[in-house]
Amino acid sequence: MLPTAALLLLAVSAVAKENATCDGPCGLRFRPSSQGDGQDTTIGAWPWMVSLQVFTSHNHRRYHACGGTLLNSHWLLTAAHCFVSKKKVYDWRLIFGASEIVYGNDKPAKPPQQERYVEKIVIHEKYVPSLEHNDIALMKITPPVPCGQFIGTGCLPQFRAGPPRIPQVCWVAGWGFLKEKVYRVTPTLQEARVNLIDLDLCNSTQWYNGRIRSTNVCAGYPEGKIDTCQRRASHVQRQRGKHLCGRGNHKLGGRLCPS
Ligand SMILES: *[C@@H]1O[C@H](CO)[C@@H](O)[C@H](O)[C@H]1NC(C)=O
Ligand SMILES: *[C@@H]1O[C@H](CO)[C@@H](O)[C@H](O)[C@H]1NC(C)=O
Repeated sequence: MLPTAALLLLAVSAVAKENATCDGPCGLRFRPSSQGDGQDTTIGAWPWMVSLQVFTSHNHRRYHACGGTLLNSHWLLTAAHCFVSKKKVYDWRLIFGASEIVYGNDKPAKPPQQERYVEKIVIHEKYVPSLEHNDIALMKITPPVPCGQFIGTGCLPQFRAGPPRIPQVCWVAGWGFLKEKVYRVTPTLQEARVNLIDLDLCNSTQWYNGRIRSTNVCAGYPEGKIDTCQRRASHVQRQRGKHLCGRGNHKLGGRLCPS
């Protein structure tokens, strides 16, 4: 009994250890996900999920607008379309380690959540807003965020990894409103299991009708009932060799629904 308890304790402390530089292993989760067809998550289930919030200076409130993936203590990955109307670094606040967020909050985030400013926004140089090609961007976090109990980094695929192979199960996560539920001011991080969908099928007339590029990833739920945007499939942009899928437990993209 004692050795088991000691071992468990060791495992927990290894995972939960504060690491200011976030250079430990990526993709460590502090809570398992549930069965995952479009449901609430618990805190720590997706420690790399960042809430990107638009800050309004006249009332000092911030409003969740996009999701992002923490890469290290200085950088996060998100979608370029998040910055179509809000391009300036001082338009944004970043909230780390959150499960439930308060929409329009004017109070500073309290631990275990962390709130940060943005130093720089880097949008893919070949991002095409009208077609959503190369819809990918980086944000530089200031001051750097420490990893800890509920904050950790997500994994990127290996350099030169090819497109994700089909069949493969992926997870999507984000703060969104469920259509069937009433509008909530405290959205909780949602997660869903999705299958990758063949690009030719996704590009066919019944689906995205020629709008899919080789830099897209298509994912949806087998019966077509869940997806990140209540459509039959969602597409998640990726940079060549930089998709966020693999080994079944990583998140894709950032937004839940197009605005
Ligand atoms: C963070 O973790 C990495 C890898 O485990 C280690 O090399 C580094 O020293 C740690 N940093 C701190 C501040 O604990
Ligand atoms: C999707 O269809 C369009 C129009 O036929 C084509 O230009 C494009 O290359 C196709 N995408 C892929 C990934 O095959």
